Amino acid sequence: MHEFEDIYHNRVILSFEDHPFSKEPKHVWVICYYQDQWLLTSHKNRGLEFPGGKVEPGETAQQGAVREVREETGGHVSNLEYIGQYKVEGRDKVIIKNVYFAVIDRLEKQSTYFETNGPVLLKKLPNNIQKDNRFSFIMKDDVLTYCVEKIRRSSESK
Ligand code: GTP
Repeated sequence: MHEFEDIYHNRVILSFEDHPFSKEPKHVWVICYYQDQWLLTSHKNRGLEFPGGKVEPGETAQQGAVREVREETGGHVSNLEYIGQYKVEGRDKVIIKNVYFAVIDRLEKQSTYFETNGPVLLKKLPNNIQKDNRFSFIMKDDVLTYCVEKIRRSSESK
């Protein structure tokens, strides 16, 4: 369990256990990898971020993750792995989000990318992402750091 603050000073709790806060979280976030590059989306207001969003009624969190990746990047998920779950205690509400790691096998051009300008591929995530105003606030707390580290460790042990 890791506890820290996000850039708005909301308390964030991240865990790599199996769904510690909710079996049916309403939010998902998907760290995507396509042909040796990170696949992000360019959100129209927030900036560069890994795709994600709200799980729709009647959908599982996994289905929501696959849909959000396609809608926001055109990426087709070939493998989806649960990484962990985090809880953000905001001023007005608490949100619980599943984090996944997705391997993308193809990018298909979409007629709309919803609230985003579509896919962005990066060879490397910058070290100083917290101070880089191209990036969204959701990339700027320790959720990203811990989850990328976990993905790296698990890929090295395979
Ligand atoms: P609506 O219900 O559609 O109005 O959603 P919303 O715009 O209030 O956003 P949402 O329910 O997705 O999130 C509510 C608040 O939680 C946001 O304003 C953020 O402060 C916070 N939040 C959402 N996602 C994240 C995240 O991934 N990381 C962090 N640190 N905070 C988040």
